[in-house]
Amino acid sequence: MSEPSQIAVDQAAVGAAAAVLRAGGLVAFPTETVYGLGADAENPDAVAAIYAAKGRPQDHPVIVHVAPGADLDYWVTDIPEAARQLVAAFWPGPLTLILKRASHIPDAVSGGQDTVGMRCPSHPVAIALLSAFKGGKGGVAAPSANKFGNVSPTTAQHVRDEFCDMVMDRSELAEAAAHAAVAAAMARLGGGDAAGFPGAAGGATRPSGPGAAGLRLAVLDGGSSQVGIESTILDLSRLATHGPVLLRPGHIGAQDIADVIGVMPNLPDQGAPRASGTLESHYAPKAPVALVDGARLPDVMRRLAAKGRKAAVIHYTQQNTQPGLHQAMPADAPGYAFGLYAALRAMDQTGAELILVETPPQETNWLGVNDRLRRAAHGSSGIVEMFLRS
Ligand code: TXA
Ligand code: MG
Repeated sequence: MSEPSQIAVDQAAVGAAAAVLRAGGLVAFPTETVYGLGADAENPDAVAAIYAAKGRPQDHPVIVHVAPGADLDYWVTDIPEAARQLVAAFWPGPLTLILKRASHIPDAVSGGQDTVGMRCPSHPVAIALLSAFKGGKGGVAAPSANKFGNVSPTTAQHVRDEFCDMVMDRSELAEAAAHAAVAAAMARLGGGDAAGFPGAAGGATRPSGPGAAGLRLAVLDGGSSQVGIESTILDLSRLATHGPVLLRPGHIGAQDIADVIGVMPNLPDQGAPRASGTLESHYAPKAPVALVDGARLPDVMRRLAAKGRKAAVIHYTQQNTQPGLHQAMPADAPGYAFGLYAALRAMDQTGAELILVETPPQETNWLGVNDRLRRAAHGSSGIVEMFLRS
């Protein structure tokens, strides 16, 4: 795993991507958690293109990503002291804060709610992009760069695999950037706008109908995402009535938050706004996923093999597995999280009928990993027994 400081930033590619964003186009970019599918947060057409590309329901809010040092007061109102303390402690980093949105944020970003999720990522390429876009004053709305419900991408190749028909090659990106630069200059001179260049939402390539036909996507490569699972989401928008609410567990844990603000976050109640990452079934590969205790795993593998069933295995203790059909994971939570989504994708690609996952440790620092695995396995309960009976 390379340290973030060692990741090279291709400034030419970043500049071209920022130009694509300015013109209303889509850019997939690395963050330290997972790759994001970004668009100008203040351009409703551009944000609509994200939904079209992902095949995501329109009422799901997206997170706004900002550069380090961005003016939070521009994006949100009624900022509680706890938010400022958490920003000081964890930004740039894998923490998203839900706060009351400022009135100029499009409904498409907030899913029509009166709140918005704000995050400042720490990946050097993300920081370079956010700093180049509108001189660091813009916001990039970005969900994870996967088709709705699929496993989040942690490499640029995962993004290309998800959106293969949309990805711009280098020459197309250069052309788009040149178009955007000309369009921006024309706009400054008071004539024309950016629409019509390859990749611009609202231009000649705007999606027609429900599909993503004609949409183009620039992909920035920043290596493997270091954290590997999505950011922790903390709702601070109803502090007075509900306290801080942990909507999605992640690398930054509840105790880390409590250490900074002096209050332990609550878990969401039924009435809390729904994060798509909190839908029961999410982050799922194509093959069904079943969690199996390590002690039971040898027996389950043996009986499935006897039935002629092809099962892939993700494990973190020593197991007697088949070559090419298993992924050994680190036994520490950060290391496991780093490799989790790549492992799910790799095991899916083996053509296995079933992915067995050894149930990870249940300590609190494994909360994020267990949350994602539980969702990946949702709807597959009883699947092992079914395979063994058939
Ligand atoms: O690590 C991450 O957070 C990644 C990277 C790209 O930054 N992004 C990400 O986005 O995971 P997405 O859209 O896949 O998940 C963000 C979750 C969604 O489930 C969304 O519903 C929730 O955040 N969310 C966004 N704004 C919200 C709001 N105002 N209130 C409640 N939930 C919100
Ligand atoms: Mg997602």
